[in-house]
Amino acid sequence: MFNRKPVIYLDLLWLVLKFLFDIGTLPDWLKGTLYRNGPGRYRFGHDEGVHLFDGMAVLHQYIIKDGQVSYRNKLLDSDTYKRNKAANRIVVTEFGVVGHPDPCKSLFKRYFSYFLESADLTDNDCVNFMLLADQLYVLTETPVMNQIDPTTLARIHKDDWRKYVSVHMATAHPMKEPDGTVYNMGTHVSAHSSYKIIKIPPPQPGDTNPIKNAIIVGSIPTQWPLMPSYFHSFGMTPNYIVFVEQPMAFNFLEIGTGRLTGMSVLDSLHYYNEYKTKFHVLHKFTGSVVELQFVAKAFFVFHHINAYEEDHQLVVDVCAYDDGNIVRYLTLESIRNHDPVPVPTFKRFILPLHVSKRNVNLVTLPYTKAEATALDDGTVYCIPECISDAYIELPRIHYEKYNGHKYSYAYGAYTDKNSVNKLIKVDVLNKTMTFWSEDNYYPGEPVFVADPEGTKEDDGIILSPVIRLKDDLQSFLLVLDAKTFSEIARAEVPADINIPISFHGIFADIQK
Ligand SMILES: [Fe+2]
Repeated sequence: MFNRKPVIYLDLLWLVLKFLFDIGTLPDWLKGTLYRNGPGRYRFGHDEGVHLFDGMAVLHQYIIKDGQVSYRNKLLDSDTYKRNKAANRIVVTEFGVVGHPDPCKSLFKRYFSYFLESADLTDNDCVNFMLLADQLYVLTETPVMNQIDPTTLARIHKDDWRKYVSVHMATAHPMKEPDGTVYNMGTHVSAHSSYKIIKIPPPQPGDTNPIKNAIIVGSIPTQWPLMPSYFHSFGMTPNYIVFVEQPMAFNFLEIGTGRLTGMSVLDSLHYYNEYKTKFHVLHKFTGSVVELQFVAKAFFVFHHINAYEEDHQLVVDVCAYDDGNIVRYLTLESIRNHDPVPVPTFKRFILPLHVSKRNVNLVTLPYTKAEATALDDGTVYCIPECISDAYIELPRIHYEKYNGHKYSYAYGAYTDKNSVNKLIKVDVLNKTMTFWSEDNYYPGEPVFVADPEGTKEDDGIILSPVIRLKDDLQSFLLVLDAKTFSEIARAEVPADINIPISFHGIFADIQK
């Protein structure tokens, strides 16, 4: 996925603003800001992050107005960043690296400092955004988030899911309903650990803190009580939440003793290929769990693509890896060594919501080869259909109209086994693919922006931040016609600007 040496910041990059030079013509209707979030600075003093996820968050703005694009970025002024910078070492634990608040502490005191300071989780929110009305938050996979000013990118305040709901972790991929309701999933860790469905009702005018209205609407016990599964996203349809419980689990004893043993969160994640991956389905409005237990041969997923209901079956599309090796591949060492990249494919699972017979394929949708069979042991065993032979990661769709609904097109970015970085458009129904790539460039997650007067699903454009892989090239914002996947414009940054990669982004026109 990332086959290049990541940008390593030597010092703070603070509010760079450069006007870009456009090539091509942007659509008249395109107005707003593409916000991007990703890792930047990894080194403080002699300490360096270990994993791609350890970099301090860099927030990016591509501001599109009057046919022109301007760009700026800013390191998130999180408490984590400020503490690391002040100490000139890594103080706060990240995914791949253990922070030591006080290097003079004995091992014994370090051990107990974890429990005493366990509330002191990283607020290095380097993964994604959540937009509640006009309030913009940045997220990572701890419960700690930061609200940022959508204009200046400065932090407004720090918040924490734990203040409102009983979770110790939460995804950075909340899902939004057309009416503004937001759903997210988190994990409650205890002797009876469980996965929680979080709901934030639509923000009301004047509500300065909609997150305080968050409630838990459903709960799923973890397969292994003290070892909850790692998950990065989930699926949602008009009536259901779809949760994939994969056999990659946290060992919280190892995490809890990490400051004593040096084991990071990454080290404490274990993948058990001999176990099956499970699907849990919840009724969104009652929180009740569908009793059917769907299972499949073990696979690992970061990102759901989409899910929808048809003929009493759930269609669940994911970027599926054969195993969990991708998590360890994303260490800086593996990336720098150009180790073989684990690659995900577009897999479609069908979950039948009514089981009438056993030992026969229950999938009746005529357009898929996916199978689901109720076995004598009471499980429903699912065999996915591989929608495309090509790889796909960082998937996006026409979210506003098609999330949770039958759809035709998915977009993604990936690096193939030959280290070619590509954008892909998948025609999900016809199972055809279209690509964009350019030598010596790495295109990031393609964000679909709908033409406000469009009538077809792919009437719109794709925005992708394209990062140079050679210093004499210029990074740029790529604009593709979503229908043809052909380039209609690019906006290049000057060659003296080095833009780091970003994971996820949103396009929004936030009026202040
Ligand atoms: Fe993600």
